Amino acid sequence: MRDAGYAVAVFPGDGTGPEVVREGLKVLDALAEGGPAPWRTTSYPGGGQYYLARGKEWEPEAEAAARAADAIVVGAVGWPGAVLPNGDLAGRALVLGLREGLDLYANVRPCRLYPGVTHRISGAYRTVWEPKNVDLVIVRENTEDLYTPARGRLRRAGETEVAIDTRVVTRRGTERIVRYAYELAGRRGRGAPEDGVRRVTCIDKSNVLEGCRFFRETFDRVGAEYPELARDYAYVDAFTQWLVRNPEHYNVAVAPNMMGDIVTDLAAVLQGGMGFACGANVGAEHAMFEPVHGSAPKHAGKNEVNPFATFFAVEQMLRWLAERHADRAVLAQADRLERAVAATLASGTARTYDQGGSTTTSAAGDRVAAAVRQEPA
Ligand code: IPM
Ligand code: MN
Repeated sequence: MRDAGYAVAVFPGDGTGPEVVREGLKVLDALAEGGPAPWRTTSYPGGGQYYLARGKEWEPEAEAAARAADAIVVGAVGWPGAVLPNGDLAGRALVLGLREGLDLYANVRPCRLYPGVTHRISGAYRTVWEPKNVDLVIVRENTEDLYTPARGRLRRAGETEVAIDTRVVTRRGTERIVRYAYELAGRRGRGAPEDGVRRVTCIDKSNVLEGCRFFRETFDRVGAEYPELARDYAYVDAFTQWLVRNPEHYNVAVAPNMMGDIVTDLAAVLQGGMGFACGANVGAEHAMFEPVHGSAPKHAGKNEVNPFATFFAVEQMLRWLAERHADRAVLAQADRLERAVAATLASGTARTYDQGGSTTTSAAGDRVAAAVRQEPA
């Protein structure tokens, strides 16, 4: 452990971001009770609402703090009407800007269904998938593809005639993301729920797109270094139906940026909805952790959204810090948090509106903090 603890820079952001981040910090505080905290959190304002009020997305000190931090937590960014002069989302600096600026090339999105969680399918709350069958991680490339900032418009007499986004797929970007997926599958130990096979699935559209053909070739070339892992392939359109029909087939899947963005929202339905979906944005030196549901303006200020995605994001952060610094005490805290979260979900006592319940955001945080206190350290 670092002398003063790991420095965690926290960006609550917009809308419901601050509401869920508050609960994440509450749970971190509960974990640290009774000893010197292994981490030190500092919160900074920023995002779309900040831009509307101050004319900038964040302060230079906040950006510097993100760069200097041992880990970063972002709540959510985006607010109706908060748009930069060039048309970009105000607040992008905190998410897309950090992904680009800190080279956070792997977006790691676990999709696991915990007992006690229901799904909202066609209006009703029910259990469709069995918890034991939903346990995969989607690794999304996070710095290039259609997100490469090489885009623009051709205008004639003030009218847009053509709009272009360039899809960039590089050797370096592809090699490192597929390698990340293989390494993760190796470390994870358990394979796919269906058969225990440690399987890495390549999601692409290589039957049509050149960039995807190269992505798949690279997946195969790097994969030859991992003979102990099974290679598997899915065109992205087919993947969407296979994932819903047979989630138990999947263990680790890797996808280019844009396709990964889309399929991870679909996958979130399997784990109970976006209220449970977290993502780690990981680079060689830095990492940023976030609930991926966004700022949800229509729910903001109501203390009603589901904070569990943030608890999972915090757990991911602790696991990443523990691994990076070979810190067994922090790893033990991550395990403790996971047990507390699983016990709370199984008890059904912290169901927010999206789960058909009426537990508030802050009451759900209180329940998990109490469960943390009951879990042996
Ligand atoms: C995500 C989000 C972001 C993305 C938005 C907020 C820019 O949808 O993290 O999945 O497109 O990557
Ligand atoms: Mn998304």
